Amino acid sequence: MKVLVTGGLGFIGSHTVVELQSEGFEVIIVDDLSNSSLDVLDGITAITSIKPTFENMDLRCKKSVQGLFEKYQDIERVIHFAASKAIGESFERPLLYYENNLTTLIHILQGLENKKNPQLIFSSSCTVYGQAKEIPITEVAPIQSALSPYGNTKQIGEEIIADTAQVTNISAVLLRYFNPIGAHESCLIGELPLGVPQNLIPFITQTAIGLRDELAVFGDDYDTVDGTCVRDYIHVVDLAKAHVAALKRLINKENLSKIEDFNIGMGTGTSVLEIIESFERVNSIKLPYKIVNRRRGDIAVAYADTKKANDVLGWKATKTLDEALSSAWRWQQLVSEKAKI
Ligand code: NAD
Ligand code: WQD
Repeated sequence: MKVLVTGGLGFIGSHTVVELQSEGFEVIIVDDLSNSSLDVLDGITAITSIKPTFENMDLRCKKSVQGLFEKYQDIERVIHFAASKAIGESFERPLLYYENNLTTLIHILQGLENKKNPQLIFSSSCTVYGQAKEIPITEVAPIQSALSPYGNTKQIGEEIIADTAQVTNISAVLLRYFNPIGAHESCLIGELPLGVPQNLIPFITQTAIGLRDELAVFGDDYDTVDGTCVRDYIHVVDLAKAHVAALKRLINKENLSKIEDFNIGMGTGTSVLEIIESFERVNSIKLPYKIVNRRRGDIAVAYADTKKANDVLGWKATKTLDEALSSAWRWQQLVSEKAKI
């Protein structure tokens, strides 16, 4: 069975392609390499012994996407990862974010809308909940006014999908990811942040390898276990498997609503200081860090209630935080070694 994976050379997309191919799906990747590289294709091929079909294409170009759906006429299923994802940058370049994250989605929906049985899985984010009143966060928690232009693109994206599903045959699953981290156990694929990382784990691994002097911990005066923010860190391989579970649900279509949403996380909260302690323990390495002021826009606590995903998708995270932190560190070491060659 064929599935089109947009952004399939990115961090989450590449891990998902590996899981899809391992489960027998035939994958066509579309990516413009704006935040990835062709080496990732080699990594996927080395892990699975299958080279996915690859189209180098900017999905903002409507004509190109039309051509794509003409070339692969039997494509009815799409997992749409392609997007710009840096929250900080989205404040500086809002139009880039609205254009990239919304036009690509619209073009994919236009490609699907006249198919017989079209199905979409959309990469959404826990950011749509803002600071939820009730923790852990369930899917019925209200969607809050967006904390960033990036977050707004995810909220609007969900609305575009809902409105389109009303008047077409499209059914969709919205997966709201919490904080994906780690790398494939082979370390042939992983996370490749461009420039200075904004996310915690890549900043930690780059500090540990000596690329950054020290980690700045943003605030220790939150109302949490140790004053630092609490998040739900999920191993990217577990997250990838959630996409396979969602795809199978769409294919089997038992009691399926037109649109379904699922929170995808471990279901447990970990503070920044706890992450540092675990990283040091698991990898036997000391991490230089200092406490600084809070970061604009950060919320105190966010972790998922995963009951709906567990019960309806039959999916559950199985990897531990320690596994994720050790794979992230091994990946960083390999990337840095390669960069020296
Ligand atoms: P990523 O940047 O690693 O992957 C995105 C891929 O899409 C890249 O390979 C990039 O080259 C490609 N791409 C971007 N714009 C494109 C375009 N116009 N045409 C074709 N390809 C394009 O990001 P990721 O971390 O793998 O995230 C994947 C999705 O998950 C995104 O939609 C992101 O918003 C969402 N998400 C990510 C996180 C996270 O923490 N990483 C959390 C929640 C949601
Ligand atoms: C985690 C914690 C920081 C860096 C965002 C989006 C979310 C999803 C993932 C896309 C926070 C602290 C971080 C550093 C630090 N992305 N931190 N020093 O902000 O929870 O989530 O990315 O959809 O939707 O909101 O992730 O990794 O940036 O931060 O102390 O150098 O680490 O304050 O508490 P965040 P993050």
